[in-house]
Amino acid sequence: MKKIFNLETKNLVGQKVELYGFIAEIRDHGKLIFFDLKDRSGILQCMISQENKFFPLAKEIKPYSVVKIIGQVQPRPAHLVNPKIETGKIEVSIEELSILSSAKTLPFEVETDGYEIDEALRMKYRYLDLRRPRLFKNLRRRHEFLLFIRNFLDAKGFIEIETPILTKSTPEGARDYLVPSRIYPGKFYALPQSPQQYKQLLMVAGVERYFQIARCFRDEDPRGDRQPEFTQIDLEMSYVERDDVLNLVEEMFIELVRELYPEKKITYVPFPRISYEEALNLYGSDKPDLRKNPNDPNELAFVFIVDFPMFEWNEKENKWDPMHHPFTQPKLADGSRDKNEILNVLSKSPEILLSEQYDLVLNGYEVGGGSLRTTDSDILIKIFEVLGYNREEIEEKFFHLLEAFSYGVPPHGGIAPGVDRILMILENEPNIREVIAFPKTGEGRDYMMGAPSKVSSNQLKELKLKVEIKENEING
Ligand code: AMO
Repeated sequence: MKKIFNLETKNLVGQKVELYGFIAEIRDHGKLIFFDLKDRSGILQCMISQENKFFPLAKEIKPYSVVKIIGQVQPRPAHLVNPKIETGKIEVSIEELSILSSAKTLPFEVETDGYEIDEALRMKYRYLDLRRPRLFKNLRRRHEFLLFIRNFLDAKGFIEIETPILTKSTPEGARDYLVPSRIYPGKFYALPQSPQQYKQLLMVAGVERYFQIARCFRDEDPRGDRQPEFTQIDLEMSYVERDDVLNLVEEMFIELVRELYPEKKITYVPFPRISYEEALNLYGSDKPDLRKNPNDPNELAFVFIVDFPMFEWNEKENKWDPMHHPFTQPKLADGSRDKNEILNVLSKSPEILLSEQYDLVLNGYEVGGGSLRTTDSDILIKIFEVLGYNREEIEEKFFHLLEAFSYGVPPHGGIAPGVDRILMILENEPNIREVIAFPKTGEGRDYMMGAPSKVSSNQLKELKLKVEIKENEING
């Protein structure tokens, strides 16, 4: 006898099968009970009549109990065929039934799409929420998406390399999550806001084509398209110009849509490349929504925004911030990257510098960002100075990178499309939490695990840390 998935029974009429799953629904007709058996492949109707010795057990079953069923696959009478489910033409007549695990009443319905349920409750019981067909489909689609990306980049000669999670602060514009070191009390690791410096160091190592499905951590307030931890398709290439990177990304997403989302239509092929200035002038935004019909869920308007300014003025702190990050290659308005001229402008009027930054925008969302990098140490040091770092800080924070570049550095550039945002759009979901297995809520919490949480005084003692919070500073 075969252990099989529900869907496979379709073609096994007349055979005896062994099945496992949840009892999703019970229809008790007195002398006859029908179950909807649910496994990851779908729903299958099973029935048991009062002559069967397992009938008393079947009477006791609570919805969502986990069962094992042995039975015969038989065709349904024509008038009982259910065209709504894939196994609708057949049913399984139960011969043996065992309850592997009994279930309490679930806190909410899990067969609906779930948008109507309070999100905090959904998150507290996320493992039940994920039983929802819509969310299981999203998990499966995410897997297929990542598998496609891995195969695509592998075929282009990229290799996936894991970089550390416990690392040192890399400026990407957000606050770092810090991890105290027990062995070096008073010192901290930072979780990576992105693998930016590591991937550049891999270019110094001669890897030439790196990618990573990379987890990134940024201590920002979450919102619909932002999570404290999220996933990038992080990639970096040596000996490339801007269009090499953009063409690769364009080909990757065109093929991905063709293969995994054939019902969707890409509005513009090739993807338009619009300068930052033009985007602001024409659309009033650096992430314009270029769909022809924004009500069409199957339209995908990709666009690259290029030629960003190198710096933006931070009013609050009265200083220059990098528009992208400090590692981006600056250029002059005419596109020249003449070193002396750039050093000159960096000293006198940084505001007029453009950069080799590019963003990928999809339906009005920024879904990727990248740039060609500065490999010239003099320019890099000058950029850090414009950003307000003094010589000591530059030494302390970036010595490793500057030193690495002194041993021969291939010119390089890269990009990092955001997996969660792209999947949100492809799956027509209203926020990125719907495409992440275990996301944080809008307030940055994990209600299921109860994180963030206090730690024991022993743990703090070991780390030589003292927590000082005032009554009015306690959240939740
Ligand atoms: P950047 O900071 O532009 O670039 O990030 C790249 C992409 O990552 C996604 N993203 C996020 N997604 C969800 N939640 C967040 N909090 C979040 N923050 C960013 C976006 C964004 O476009 N190291 C550079 C890449 C490079 O230069 O190669 C970087 O991280 O889709």
